[in-house]
Amino acid sequence: MPDSTITQSDIITIDVTSPFASQQLLEAYTTTGIAYFTGLPIATEAFQARVLETAQRFFLGFTAEQKAALRFGVPGYIRGYSGPGSEQYGDTADTYQEHYVESLDIVSGMTIRQWPDLLIDSGLMDELEQYRRVAAQAATIILTLTEKALKLTPGFLATKHALSRGNSTFRLNHYPAMMQNQRKGSIRFGEHTDFDTISLLLLLDDAGGLQFQNPRGEWCSLKRKPNTLLVHVADMLARWSNERLVATPHRVYAEDQDDLWPERYTMIFFAAPPSNTWVDSKDLFPDEPNKYPPVSAGDYLKQRLEQIYGSSYREKIG
Ligand SMILES: [Fe+2]
Repeated sequence: MPDSTITQSDIITIDVTSPFASQQLLEAYTTTGIAYFTGLPIATEAFQARVLETAQRFFLGFTAEQKAALRFGVPGYIRGYSGPGSEQYGDTADTYQEHYVESLDIVSGMTIRQWPDLLIDSGLMDELEQYRRVAAQAATIILTLTEKALKLTPGFLATKHALSRGNSTFRLNHYPAMMQNQRKGSIRFGEHTDFDTISLLLLLDDAGGLQFQNPRGEWCSLKRKPNTLLVHVADMLARWSNERLVATPHRVYAEDQDDLWPERYTMIFFAAPPSNTWVDSKDLFPDEPNKYPPVSAGDYLKQRLEQIYGSSYREKIG
């Protein structure tokens, strides 16, 4: 695949039931790090419509106070509700950005008792848990294809992820509608790579704006394709695979909008193994020198999350 011409039309769509699926995944994940997938219960219009309805009921139906009461957790971990501006990227005043999005996060292994009555009584908690389980099943299928593509011991990645517990996070995102002059530039969520292993992204509407960076550094727009799920490689898997697989830089851009940026909804499942999992490329490729020192999944995630949510971070860059 020539780098210079990679656009949305070159992002492959992989049917997970095809005998060529793992070979296609390898081609995609070693070049752009991203692919559309079909053949999964999560990748249907009916499922997407249900998740959108739930997301709207939460983000639009709950008051700001009710949502703020769902902001809980411990430093270094994401739990519950985060309002616009909670996540920050950039090391200098010039590159510093807050992301204008609100999110609701459920981490695998959280019990329903940890959530306030409000979310349980509204029925939302049951729906979210159901969606989380469907997303975790899809993640297991993609991880199994990835093992096959990398010629790993069957079950190596899927088993280590232990998706019923571990650190995987199910997230609903809502980008509120806003006037362009409310915000400097045209970025709704700045350039970044995710820090889990794989990220499953379901675009819940046609608001658009998602862009990924191809290997030549050019930004390419990705539209929603009916009955597909986008899955991209994140940093922990790039590190684990000794950079055979490419973590995909991406952002959300306000493209082709004159004044109003329409609201936008997405669902993401960030797959990550339990904290005590050792991320060491020698376990995958024993004969190759490590490009990164081994690290536990827990320490790695904590480091990365502290960069984004750390309380001293805003003060540090003034
Ligand atoms: Fe991301």
